[in-house]
Amino acid sequence: MRSKIIIANWKLNGNWSFNEEFANALSKGLQEIDLKDRQIVICPPNVYLQQMNGLLLEKSIFLGGQDLSDELSGAFTGETSGAMLKDFGCRYVIVGHSERRARHFETDDMVVKKTMNAISAGIIPVVCIGETQEQRQSGLMKEVLSEQIHSLVSGVADQIGNVVLAYEPIWAIGTGATATVEQAQEVHGWVRSEIERVNPAIAQKLPIIYGGSVKAGNAPELLEAPDIDGLLVGGASLMPREFLTICLAGL
Ligand code: 13P
Repeated sequence: MRSKIIIANWKLNGNWSFNEEFANALSKGLQEIDLKDRQIVICPPNVYLQQMNGLLLEKSIFLGGQDLSDELSGAFTGETSGAMLKDFGCRYVIVGHSERRARHFETDDMVVKKTMNAISAGIIPVVCIGETQEQRQSGLMKEVLSEQIHSLVSGVADQIGNVVLAYEPIWAIGTGATATVEQAQEVHGWVRSEIERVNPAIAQKLPIIYGGSVKAGNAPELLEAPDIDGLLVGGASLMPREFLTICLAGL
């Protein structure tokens, strides 16, 4: 059985006092709860990693970055390397989020480089894939996802077993239009079968998590689907009570 991973992607949100209140509320809410191997991950903006590292003392809560550089070190202003994230206690890092692919022109090749940099720094990359509404409506969904998956699988080769995949349909991000459980499960099952074609040994072990308008209300049924191994939560992860309910969904 694959264990579940619930990840909060705070994006460009948070501040010193909010973070403290959030971390205290979450730690308190998770105290003495049997999470059954479930991992909770908070990805704040980088500048708050140290603060959050000091606050998230509950053993099932981990820290993650929202991005890392495709370079290791040198004259790359504004970048953060995998090794730096590791120094600040990160266990995970989100890679290739659609907001970075769209706003920062991240290509599949850059996503592969970042994924490899994370792995060599000892951090688990959470690699995002997803299609736009337009691509889905014009019947291109599988083609688009297939390109993202196969670029990753061939680029990272035998390291694919160290990756978490995140399916985030772009049309469901921040829109309130969650994919239905049936839609999400169908894609997750298909993604797993694509991986199976190239790497049968890994496919059943690979965590594939879902993101896109996840809320306390839809988390339980999403987590019940056989190929959905966790959730990547944006907006709802900024509300401590709502996020705590998501973390505990289906337990
Ligand atoms: P929302 O949960 O706000 O739709 O964001 C999803 C997301 O992009 C998480 O990475």
